[in-house]
Amino acid sequence: MNIGIVGLGYVGAVSAACLADAGHHIWGVDVNAEKVRIINEGRSPIVENGLGEKIGNARNAGRLHATVNIEEALPETELCFVAVATPSRPNGQIDPAHLFRACNQIAAALKKIGKQQTVAVRSSILPIIFDDCRQIFDSVAPGLVELCVNPEFLREGTAIRDFREPPFILIGTDSPNAEAALRSLYAHQASPIFVLKARDALMVKYASNAFHALKVAFANEIAAVCEQSGVDAEAVMNVFCSDAVLNISRRYLMPGFAFGGSCLPKDLRAILYAGKHLDLQLPLVNAILSSNQEVIERAFQKIRTSGKHRLALIGLSFKSNTDDLRESPYVDLAERLLGKGYDLRIYDPNVVTARLTGANKRYIDAVIPHLSRLLVGSLQELADAELIIVGHRFEGLEGLLAKTNASVLDLARAMMETPSETKAPALDESSGS
Ligand SMILES: NC(=O)c1ccc[n+]([C@@H]2O[C@H](COP(=O)([O-])OP(=O)(O)OC[C@H]3O[C@@H](n4cnc5c(N)ncnc54)[C@H](O)[C@@H]3O)[C@@H](O)[C@H]2O)c1
Repeated sequence: MNIGIVGLGYVGAVSAACLADAGHHIWGVDVNAEKVRIINEGRSPIVENGLGEKIGNARNAGRLHATVNIEEALPETELCFVAVATPSRPNGQIDPAHLFRACNQIAAALKKIGKQQTVAVRSSILPIIFDDCRQIFDSVAPGLVELCVNPEFLREGTAIRDFREPPFILIGTDSPNAEAALRSLYAHQASPIFVLKARDALMVKYASNAFHALKVAFANEIAAVCEQSGVDAEAVMNVFCSDAVLNISRRYLMPGFAFGGSCLPKDLRAILYAGKHLDLQLPLVNAILSSNQEVIERAFQKIRTSGKHRLALIGLSFKSNTDDLRESPYVDLAERLLGKGYDLRIYDPNVVTARLTGANKRYIDAVIPHLSRLLVGSLQELADAELIIVGHRFEGLEGLLAKTNASVLDLARAMMETPSETKAPALDESSGS
């Protein structure tokens, strides 16, 4: 393919060299004449292992041309990437000035030559900025551009390998043409290809980088506690990382309701106590419990703003398939609702069974007698609720939701559905201890 790449910094230069290496013809554009000159001399404008050699080879093969003039590049291309910088403003918002200028220049050039083209943003941008880019193309070059996104996940220092073997290739678009163009570009790569809506794809990049940063900060806080306690942090984290079932896995990473139970809150408090005792600041671990409380608060606010008064809560134990009520976020939510005077009924067959068999009876009678009085024995007893709050999924739930006129708040998905949209929620891998 003939490909334009606007912005020849870390992402643009690596993409240009690797795509030329794969046999494509690349037209690179940058406002920095020095970078353009260096590339046209067959050298790398950045320090990156192996990049100079790849750029030299691409130049010798006649597959890489750099220019400061976008109008020179775009008549030759079928697909154009945007890889300009999106730096931070002092308030944290990204500064889209380079991006908007690049979009305007691409749109004006395409309009001038009267050419349609797929334009794929590789820069990291928030979804709201993508809407502005679309507006630029719609107003400057209406009907000429299929705008999509193709977020980049390479790491400096291992950029060439990361470009060739990314964990996945992510295409964000609703357009079959744009999807087809990008799929054919990456057809030679073995990595899985995911296609999402553009706004969703953009958030994958932010979720990934936030998680990478979280991992580093987490490991360093645990290491600080280890070090101050005379514990070998590397030995701890080596074993920790070897667990691909619970630790380094999808577990605990699907959005859901708040965590609770007899272990996670207790053990977090113990680490925090250790930190205090050792004179250590642990802001990240410290924030986890309050972040968890916010999940309950958001659910409570959703219920409050729904305006419904007759409520049914399905699930009371801290997670499904257990009768354990200790530090259950559902108990917390139920108590808040009760405190505000809502008419609440609760269905949780595991808790009912525990009370009947006496297993958890003492806890139920002593700690939550006010809630245990609200427990009903069957889903049918919830049929006249105005709002059904789904915590856990029990047999018969789908039947109830199919025939109910109530609104449904699915806590696992934090989603409110009005009666016309109500459908059975999908099974999930939501959180819990
Ligand atoms: N650096 C990374 O490791 C990395 C990895 C993944 C994603 N990203 C994202 O990719 C984007 C680019 O990052 P980078 O590190 O390559 O930036 P960079 O600053 O190294 O390169 C950007 C280039 O764009 C050029 N430019 C600016 N305005 C232009 C215009 N109107 N026309 C043509 N060229 C223009 C600049 O001269 C510069 O050479 C950012 O959004 C970044 O967040 C970066």
